[in-house]
Amino acid sequence: MIGLRLNGEPRELDLDPTTPLLWVLRDHLGLIGTKYGCGMGECGICLVHLEGVPVKSCVTPLSAAHGKVVTTIEGLSRDGRHRLQLAWIIEEVPHCGYCQSGQLMRAAALLAEHPRPTDAQIDAAMSGVLCRCGSYKRIRRAIHRAANPEAHTAARTEPY
Ligand code: FES
Ligand code: FES
Repeated sequence: MIGLRLNGEPRELDLDPTTPLLWVLRDHLGLIGTKYGCGMGECGICLVHLEGVPVKSCVTPLSAAHGKVVTTIEGLSRDGRHRLQLAWIIEEVPHCGYCQSGQLMRAAALLAEHPRPTDAQIDAAMSGVLCRCGSYKRIRRAIHRAANPEAHTAARTEPY
């Protein structure tokens, strides 16, 4: 039996401890906000937080989460109004959207570590989550907006 705290709730899971966390989340718990990209630890799209640290859930066994706190995109905020999610909306970040839960989870970990990140810190952190639609410039703007809300007007002013 694996015990963990998932999005604020205690969970007991009677599953093979070698099962990748991504499969547990999506197939066993119905938390489908975390996406399958490469399945090989390469793209970062499947990022979740383990004890606040971003991990690739496709290559993280369930056993690694035993006794730990796990946060998925569903737990980033209770109402979808995390400051990053609001900034994402204003900056119209997603194109197809497929990578965006991973992008948001990586960005949240970045802001926890660097509350006012530089462009270089943003680029270094976010380069680990691949976006086939090339949304990186908008991601950078949205992270700055979330980090410095008082420095931004309500509307997006820059073109893509
Ligand atoms: S799906 Fe996990 S790193 Fe690509
Ligand atoms: S928004 Fe399409 S892959 Fe990133």
